[in-house]
Amino acid sequence: MLSISVIAAFPELVEYALDFGVTGRARQQGLWRWQGFALHDFATDARKSIDARPAAGGPGMVLMPAPLDAALASARAWHGEKSLVVFMSPDGAPLEQSRVREFAQHQHITFVAGRYEGIDQRWIDANVDAIVSVGDYVLSGGELAAAVVIDSCVRLMPGALGDAESATFESFADGKLDWPQYALAPTESRQMPAELANGDHATVNRWRVKQALIRTWMRRPDLLARAKLSLEERAMLDEFTETGI
Ligand code: ADE
Repeated sequence: MLSISVIAAFPELVEYALDFGVTGRARQQGLWRWQGFALHDFATDARKSIDARPAAGGPGMVLMPAPLDAALASARAWHGEKSLVVFMSPDGAPLEQSRVREFAQHQHITFVAGRYEGIDQRWIDANVDAIVSVGDYVLSGGELAAAVVIDSCVRLMPGALGDAESATFESFADGKLDWPQYALAPTESRQMPAELANGDHATVNRWRVKQALIRTWMRRPDLLARAKLSLEERAMLDEFTETGI
């Protein structure tokens, strides 16, 4: 079972985000468990403060080490052993599927979500194993970012997805975006591509791979530059870039 703890000002945000669909069902099935540690519960002063003004001045507030220490000690006790501590921050390395696969190998993970101007650097240096960003934009807190990482890990757990194949044949599994999907359902006027109606497995497969390549070429040239294409895939892409079809 995967055990996830979340240290945050508002850990309920994470729980709510993961209570539905694949992640909600997986939790009910006992594939993973969750415990939130709300920083305000670990405040050490009478005013229940969790943050302080930045040393040497500047705007905003910085989360203080003491409540974080106490929350982490409680999280450790809940896990029963040392967990991987992941700090969510726009200053971290952007999340990629390869990183998600690495995290999904762990049994015990503690996510720490910042708020305000950030977290005291001394605490980060002493306790954090990985710093992860969910993209080059700034959220008002790390809770939703933590939910993103947890969701992406939980859905990789054996038994979480109904059809095990859907975790393999999908965007990023092999460095390409997914091919376009069409529901087997009529619409009033728009036709689906003839290749899909053809029924021949090889034709469908070739069409799908080519569409995935075209999409990746148009939308994510950075991914394509890193992808290892077979000779056949390279030929399909060349065909499109040279003829537009
Ligand atoms: N906290 C605020 N913005 C974030 C981001 N982009 N990724 C991770 N944590 C964050």
